[in-house]
Amino acid sequence: MHLMTKRINSDNLITALATQGYAITDQALPLDLLTQLAQEALNLQKTGAMQRARTGKTPNASSINALRGDFTYWLEENDTRESNAARAYLEHMQAVKLSINRALFLGLFDFETHFTIYPAGSSYSKHLDQFQQNKSQLNTYGQRKVSTILYLNENWQSQDGGQLRLYLDNGVKSNSYLDIEPTVGKLVLFLSEQFWHEVLPAQRDRISLTGWFSTRS
Ligand code: OGA
Ligand code: MN
Repeated sequence: MHLMTKRINSDNLITALATQGYAITDQALPLDLLTQLAQEALNLQKTGAMQRARTGKTPNASSINALRGDFTYWLEENDTRESNAARAYLEHMQAVKLSINRALFLGLFDFETHFTIYPAGSSYSKHLDQFQQNKSQLNTYGQRKVSTILYLNENWQSQDGGQLRLYLDNGVKSNSYLDIEPTVGKLVLFLSEQFWHEVLPAQRDRISLTGWFSTRS
């Protein structure tokens, strides 16, 4: 991957994250790379490599269906078996992490990330990312500080649903929110400890890469 894609235009992103606690970038990565990533997610789904997502709160499968309906596939940062597209994405997120750390001193260290597919009809009810379980008991991540979502949906229309509803005034009871369309190339960052959010029911399969920057445990 060449320097051009590595050098991210981070000024707006940093300013937004610092002042609002969240940031939305519309064309975070080149379209051909996004298309490859979407294709990879669909292939993983087709081959049965995606797994039903879990949350920390719900141990059994039937109650989790109502809470969240997505399927996930975790990426490993230092695994050379990851595709070129996945590695280009991971490199980009490293660059994002560096610019956040340089400007905001959050001490971000680890990055955990997975492909996500919400099958048509599914959603994820209102939650805070911090309370979720990390991917494995063996992996001791620190606190999740910044949540990241890169959307991979081409030709997504408002009537397809699946908006990310981000609650703005910092509380579970907040009624002020922003609905974010999960359109291809959009990268959303928000402070994991502050922002309650949910995924509205999607009318067609909804594809993304979700991640968390965390401090060292
Ligand atoms: C999550 C999540 C939001 C989205 O996976 O924790 O909130 O828009 N995802 O996919
Ligand atoms: Mn979340």
